[in-house]
Amino acid sequence: MKARSTGGGLAAAAHAILVATVAACAAAGQPPSHCDDLTPPPGATLQPSRDLYCLYLTPRHGLEHMSGHLELRTPHTPFGIAVNAAGNHLYEGVLTLSGLPDPGALGDFEHFVAWIASPHFDTVASLGPVANGTRSIGEIGINKFMILVTAEARPDAPEWEGRLLLRASSPSARMSPPDMQEFMLGGLRTGPTEHAGTHAPAHTWPHPPMLPGLTMFPALMALNPPAATPFLPAAGAAPDPSALPVARPRDVLELADGDVVDLEAGLVRRRIRSRDYVMYGFNGQYPGPLLHVPEAATITVNFTNSIPWPTTIHWHGLRLDNASDGVPGVTQDPVEPGETFRYTVHFKDPGVYWYHPHHREDILKDLGLYGNMLVEPREPDYYAPADREEFLMLDDFLLAGDEPMPFGEERTTHAFMGRFGNLFLVNGEPDYELEVTAGEVVRLYLTNVSNTRTFNLSFAAVPRQNAGQPDAPMGAAPPMGRPRVKVIGTDIGAFEREEWVESIVLSPAERYIVHVRFDEPGDYALVNRVQGIDHLGGVFIPETDRLGTVRVAAGGGPPAAGAETSGAHTAFDTLRTNLAAAREIALYREYFDDPIDRELTFTLETSGIPYIVERLMRFDSAYFHPVEWSGTMPMMNWNSTSEEVRWIVRDPATGAENMDIGWEFEVGAVVKIRLHNERRSFHAMQHPFHIHGQRFLVLARNGVPNENLAWKDTVLLPTGTTTDILLEITNPGSWMAHCHISEHLEAGMRMLFTVK
Ligand code: C2O
Ligand code: CU
Repeated sequence: MKARSTGGGLAAAAHAILVATVAACAAAGQPPSHCDDLTPPPGATLQPSRDLYCLYLTPRHGLEHMSGHLELRTPHTPFGIAVNAAGNHLYEGVLTLSGLPDPGALGDFEHFVAWIASPHFDTVASLGPVANGTRSIGEIGINKFMILVTAEARPDAPEWEGRLLLRASSPSARMSPPDMQEFMLGGLRTGPTEHAGTHAPAHTWPHPPMLPGLTMFPALMALNPPAATPFLPAAGAAPDPSALPVARPRDVLELADGDVVDLEAGLVRRRIRSRDYVMYGFNGQYPGPLLHVPEAATITVNFTNSIPWPTTIHWHGLRLDNASDGVPGVTQDPVEPGETFRYTVHFKDPGVYWYHPHHREDILKDLGLYGNMLVEPREPDYYAPADREEFLMLDDFLLAGDEPMPFGEERTTHAFMGRFGNLFLVNGEPDYELEVTAGEVVRLYLTNVSNTRTFNLSFAAVPRQNAGQPDAPMGAAPPMGRPRVKVIGTDIGAFEREEWVESIVLSPAERYIVHVRFDEPGDYALVNRVQGIDHLGGVFIPETDRLGTVRVAAGGGPPAAGAETSGAHTAFDTLRTNLAAAREIALYREYFDDPIDRELTFTLETSGIPYIVERLMRFDSAYFHPVEWSGTMPMMNWNSTSEEVRWIVRDPATGAENMDIGWEFEVGAVVKIRLHNERRSFHAMQHPFHIHGQRFLVLARNGVPNENLAWKDTVLLPTGTTTDILLEITNPGSWMAHCHISEHLEAGMRMLFTVK
């Protein structure tokens, strides 16, 4: 990374400090902090948000010659964002100080010490001695905190006892309960709120469910329904569930090159927790059939559309022929109800993929139209050995009481944050169950098929006395410990090297391949643990959702030396470098330091949203969490449609937006793109950005180089960050790139590029 000062505009003194700072970073082996006034790297104009990722320290009165800042730097993670198993965001704190005199000049002191404290000083912890210059102060995983720098007589005081010099609070600490004016506004209940667009008859929309424990302003509870007609597949002419065939769990189709598969999208009866629902399925199954194919195979899929919507199938992540990419209006006309379409599906790269409709995904995918594809690597030991493989398609479905929350027929609802569900599904079922034997190595292929939710998955031992009770609290200290989880691959194949992780983070459409070994018999809950935000209290609320249970039966224990046939048990203990993946990626290293070729900004515009929503959301914009993990604004979110909310991807070089962006590339190009998720938008949040038909590497996040690469087709862009990717252009045609939050896609966040 090249660091250049902005030069001319700076006062000489400030410039000297900056140069000294940059020199100090270099000395400490730290790349310069983006919180310094540095120019962006060559070719780039967009920088990470300083508001979310920099804390500027305020000196005490009379000490104005001192200054400093703390960069919340993105630590290494194989995922789009670094969090711990509880869902607390993790940062590497990089502290830069300048203007500190000799400590003795400030009194009877010999050291400077930095401290981290909770906002109300319930806890204060030392970060150790500090000095002028830039240094890492280690990992920070606290939701809200303060940073202090003091002068001390001893370097190891357990609590600060000297003189306070500098302080700052974390961006998250700005979150607070609404003030009196907002409270009064929120308390007003003046009948129906103004709303743009046509009004749906109120009685047909149920109230969206509230998250347990959250309260809402009365003014929000009185919001009109969204400006769309409520749609459910059971309504109107569609049959009653009992007339439909009961859907069955998916088949695995073992396919060879040249095989032909029939896929039909149709109405099915789904039984979920002993209630029947009309939903959609491929070939009467949930999820759709799993297509298991060898690398480099090509198959033909004869698709029949038997649902009452026009649709297409998109083969997510595959570098196939453009004519089979399944994007209505771009690569084909939508397949009308009753019609058929023939897809030629080519599997160029090993990995786990999925297929889904590319028309009104917010409805059709959510109602069950999705299936996995596993491309078996040509190289036999491409992944380290495992004893068995399981496929988990992760989803959340939104119920209002016992019935599904209707969808917007003409346009999507939940246009702000996307449709968060309250019923967690794995492979279309709640209460997922897996039985394994202790000591077995299980390879999990995880695919996030939800409309908007980013998962943070981990396994937690269930204390014996609570086993079998779905709502049993998770003990803070599980008696049997947590099984070890190792990440080996993602969207398009393997990582350069395997890594241990505490939890697995997947944004919509991303896939991760992990190995997990349960050494102790017992029950383990598969949980999604995140930090949601209670906007009324201005506080974080930890949430734990249980998706299922892994029952581990006592086995023979670790196999005796030489007795093991698979080699999986032994291989699990070491972190392997994947030579095949590393060798292939190494060919692209020469491009890593190239200037940025293109940029994209992710933002939004609104019009005609209700006054109360406008006011409260502006208030909430004091802070945006890097990832909105949970749907804690259910009314405002539900009420918003693509009429009022327009999500935008913009090329800052031309000002072109969404489908007006018409980038052109030639086969063989390698393009470095900076993706910038704009913090200063009305409601900034993360976007899982997906590029069709090609593959890319994630080179850096907020300017920090990524040290373990893998080919991807979808990348999570946390709020206010920059993500630099290297896009390899290999596949001619007209391709779409878009946010994979279904409601954001529907509300405009999509673009095209052509490859010649
Ligand atoms: Cu999985 Cu264009 O999408
Ligand atoms: Cu988005």
